Amino acid sequence: MAPSQQHHPLPYDEIIPVLDFGSQTAQLICRRIREAGAFSKLISPTTSAAELKAMNPIGIVLSGGPSSVYDDNAPTCDPEIFKLGIPILGVCYGMQLACKVLGCEITHSSHHEYGRAGLHIENRTGLLDAVPEKTTVWMSHGDQVHGLDEQFDTLASTPTCPHAVVRHKSLPLMGVQFHPEVTHTPHGVDILRNFIVGICGSHGQWKMAEFLEAECDRVRKFVGDGRVICGLSGGVDSAVCAALLSKAIGDQLTCVFVDNGLLRKNERDLVEAEFRDHFHIDLRVVDAGDAFLADLAGIEDPQEKRRRIGHRFVEVFKEEAAHIGGADFLAQGTLYPDVIESGHGHAGQSATIKIHHNVGGLPDELGVQLVEPLRDLFKDEARRLGEVLGLPDRIVWRHPFPGPGLAVRMLGAVDEEGLNILRNADEILLEEIVASSLYRQTAQVFAVLLPVRSVGVMGDSRTYDRVIAIRAVESSDFMTADWARIPFDVLARISNRIINEVVGVNRVVYDISSKPPATIEWE
Ligand code: XMP
Repeated sequence: MAPSQQHHPLPYDEIIPVLDFGSQTAQLICRRIREAGAFSKLISPTTSAAELKAMNPIGIVLSGGPSSVYDDNAPTCDPEIFKLGIPILGVCYGMQLACKVLGCEITHSSHHEYGRAGLHIENRTGLLDAVPEKTTVWMSHGDQVHGLDEQFDTLASTPTCPHAVVRHKSLPLMGVQFHPEVTHTPHGVDILRNFIVGICGSHGQWKMAEFLEAECDRVRKFVGDGRVICGLSGGVDSAVCAALLSKAIGDQLTCVFVDNGLLRKNERDLVEAEFRDHFHIDLRVVDAGDAFLADLAGIEDPQEKRRRIGHRFVEVFKEEAAHIGGADFLAQGTLYPDVIESGHGHAGQSATIKIHHNVGGLPDELGVQLVEPLRDLFKDEARRLGEVLGLPDRIVWRHPFPGPGLAVRMLGAVDEEGLNILRNADEILLEEIVASSLYRQTAQVFAVLLPVRSVGVMGDSRTYDRVIAIRAVESSDFMTADWARIPFDVLARISNRIINEVVGVNRVVYDISSKPPATIEWE
């Protein structure tokens, strides 16, 4: 894998790294720590005690993970970390691992406990300070600590988990069997804050502006006097990435906008106007629509579409990099959810749900190194960073648009006629959402063209036309989402307008699926 700027030392006063054992919610722990005002990021579970010490952390968290501590290749940590004298919090697998390393007995259960459980607190000090005696916690585990060694005290239990919160008697080590980072644990934030502020002694002063300065500094050191190209999509992630790089390295940056023929209506004009005029960035627009559409002709499988789009992007970038005169680095606005959903977590254990074209082999193919300044952030954190960078609202609050563009919103094979229908329907949909002041209240709203036809009647004639599905979701991190309760009268206006104004559509349906189990995009 190409080296990345991630390995440079972190310049923050207060760092609480999270050892990533592969839980889908590990990065949420980092985010909660950042919200509490200390810097946090996921690091590899193989990080040695000496490397950890060199980071000068005020605390360490061991995340959850899908393994059993008894699995053959169960990830583990350097046992020396427990001797560093730094406060350590083990979460779920992290707690079991810590207890096992220190000699406790863990029971392996074929029965998974998954869901809410009532927590009964026996000792409301330290980690559980000011948490109600009886509260609810979110459990998701198979194994649990069974024979708690006399080195530990039990602070709380649930009906099925006798040692739900434990504390070591002499080491600054504690563990929770449940997940305090998820919203289903109502006092989880308080428990984490007790750890961060009360136990680790954080002053809670870390702010996104500090991240910006530190990240600019890291980028400058990492790229030296090299040339960086940045793929600009017009979406918030790549815009924030480009603005950060522009601040960090000025005219060493060239942005490339690929018109892949899969864009929304007027998108190209908007991006050109915005980024050339507003940012004064060296912006190259590549007209590659024909090549992308030729690659996609007749291809119905969503993953294959993504794969082909990804490959074409690589080709286009290679050519553009050659025109620019050789780039040394490629910058991408990859966010944490992109990383985890592509199965690229530190522990290498998270399941691959979708292939994201913007994570993977691109830098190796290009012979460049990767710069991904937003890789540890969630979408709303990237937006905050965008505000700190002074980006206008219309960019910062723009709904995300996937790299593969309309190709994953036109189900089945992609063709020009379908893309035009989709563009027109999408434009009407967004006009109505903005007019109803619903744009900022929704996380993502878009039209999907279904690969079916349905019978209708227009005037006195029978029609047999296309179906548009409307997808509107509310979400804060895009890892989970709920369908937005758009008022019926707004839906009625959208439906009327699409059916009347978009030739070839005679039916509009509304998607009422949450994520999970559905995903936000239909492909
Ligand atoms: P899903 O469909 O996975 O989407 O629930 C979560 C968020 O990711 C966006 N998305 C993508 N973004 N390349 C991207 O850059 C992709 O291949 C891709 N697939 C989904 C999606 O629009 C939503 O915001």
